[in-house]
Amino acid sequence: MKTTILARKLVPVAVIDDVEHALPLAEALLAADLNVIEITLRTEAAMACIETIKKSMPEMTVGAGTILDQKIIPRLVDYGISFGITPGLNPRVIESAEKKGLLIIPGVITPSEIEQARHYGLDTLKFFPAEAAGGTGMLKALAGPYAHTGIAFIPTGGINLSNLESYISSPCVAAVGGSWFVAAHLLKDKKYTEISQLTKQALTLIQNI
Ligand code: 3PG
Repeated sequence: MKTTILARKLVPVAVIDDVEHALPLAEALLAADLNVIEITLRTEAAMACIETIKKSMPEMTVGAGTILDQKIIPRLVDYGISFGITPGLNPRVIESAEKKGLLIIPGVITPSEIEQARHYGLDTLKFFPAEAAGGTGMLKALAGPYAHTGIAFIPTGGINLSNLESYISSPCVAAVGGSWFVAAHLLKDKKYTEISQLTKQALTLIQNI
């Protein structure tokens, strides 16, 4: 599963307010040849969006983001999600995900958090909030003591087309996460073609690095 999520090195972080956007958004990503989506649990519609995409589009690898509470995990697993992402490292969420056999990608920023994640046997970690926490300079510094362990980061937070290349080229980066190509305003205006174009643009840039 990890291989599928990281295959194109791009994880769309979607905040969807209205379930009517769910399928067109997933179709727009697929049209750009990206079969992964992280739906953040920040809106009333989020769970319905996950359920809708899972039911109608089996070719899409669906994950849930912003998991702040372990209580939601059994329901997410029932919906058939493939992965969970958290902004921080929450032992209760990690343990509950592990019990349910759900791949969990916790957010980390410090050496202590990385080592805590390693304690749980986790080696693929969200580096969040990437830009605010020191960006590629911080990634390079963290690679010093941890690169040899096989750690893989998914920097997320403040990434866009202008700094995508430097993140992808940084040590230990397996993929980047971002909302710029699936932004809320694009969904609100139903600009699904633009979403496809922005996604293709990002994927092409990544391929050419
Ligand atoms: C998030 O979880 O909100 C991500 O960090 C998205 O960040 P971005 O909107 O800056 O891409």
